Amino acid sequence: MASPILVTGGTGTLGRLVVPRLRDAGCEVRVLSRRSHEGAEGVEVATGDLATGEGIQTAVEGTEVIVHLAGTSKGDEVKARHLVRAASRAGARHLVYISVAGADRIPVVSGIDRAMFGYFASKLAAEKTIADSGLPWTTLRATQFHDGILLTVRQLSRLPVLLVPAGWRFQPVDAAEVAARLVELALGAPAGLVPDLGGPRVYEMAALVRSYLRARGKRRPILPVWLPGKAARAFRAGANLAPDRAVGRRTWEDFLAERVSAPSGS
Ligand SMILES: NC(=O)c1ccc[n+]([C@@H]2O[C@H](COP(=O)([O-])OP(=O)(O)OC[C@H]3O[C@@H](n4cnc5c(N)ncnc54)[C@H](OP(=O)(O)O)[C@@H]3O)[C@@H](O)[C@H]2O)c1
Repeated sequence: MASPILVTGGTGTLGRLVVPRLRDAGCEVRVLSRRSHEGAEGVEVATGDLATGEGIQTAVEGTEVIVHLAGTSKGDEVKARHLVRAASRAGARHLVYISVAGADRIPVVSGIDRAMFGYFASKLAAEKTIADSGLPWTTLRATQFHDGILLTVRQLSRLPVLLVPAGWRFQPVDAAEVAARLVELALGAPAGLVPDLGGPRVYEMAALVRSYLRARGKRRPILPVWLPGKAARAFRAGANLAPDRAVGRRTWEDFLAERVSAPSGS
């Protein structure tokens, strides 16, 4: 029987879309999670914590292909180190990683940069750890998922006046399209850094916020705020975008129409 594909982050937004696609492709899957979960047909669960390394060696044993999706806003470089160490010992033959568009273009230099954009630095450091690991690897950088943008605009819209970073733009992509591409990569040969996957359109952040408010039937003033630091400047210059790779199909409007509606009576 073929060895299971290990999916770290298999319980997350992206991972929950990757796992069934791997199953549809006929793969056995092992999901890594910090908590124990019920398995399902063809899906077993391994418990472990990539931040500490606990349980990771056992989780990778017997797997040849690893799809590494686990991530948080901080410390992904540490998670990658623990995974790479265990995967090397286990003799894995392909490590597929999801990173973020602009990881190599957002300069995280000052304390302010680090506080707001440390995520990009940690994704880049994780990429390097994987590329230097000696393991065969593939890394895909994607722009922000619709779900992540929705979370951000929801949080912003809790305030009576919405403070929106001036000049920032986003290119939201559908997580299901990223999942499909990752499955294709996991089933293929190690390919190194592959072309970015970006959403179909670039939007001003204020436009994303306005469309959300409209969908919710709300009206709020939007106040542009100028954020300091080199990383914020790089964002204003579009370093987080992948306009040449606008290959995603599902638009923000399609996503909003499906996921957000005005409360009844509004
Ligand atoms: N969201 C975006 O816009 C975006 C864009 C580009 C790239 N990405 C990358 O895509 C990946 C998935 O993002 P997502 O939005 O699906 O994330 P998510 O929904 O927040 O899920 C995070 C996943 O990471 C796992 N995880 C977190 N810390 C862990 C740890 N210490 N040990 C083991 N597992 C851990 C969680 O598993 P448990 O809670 O079950 O332990 C969960 O499955 C991340 O690497 C992210 O950087 C995201």
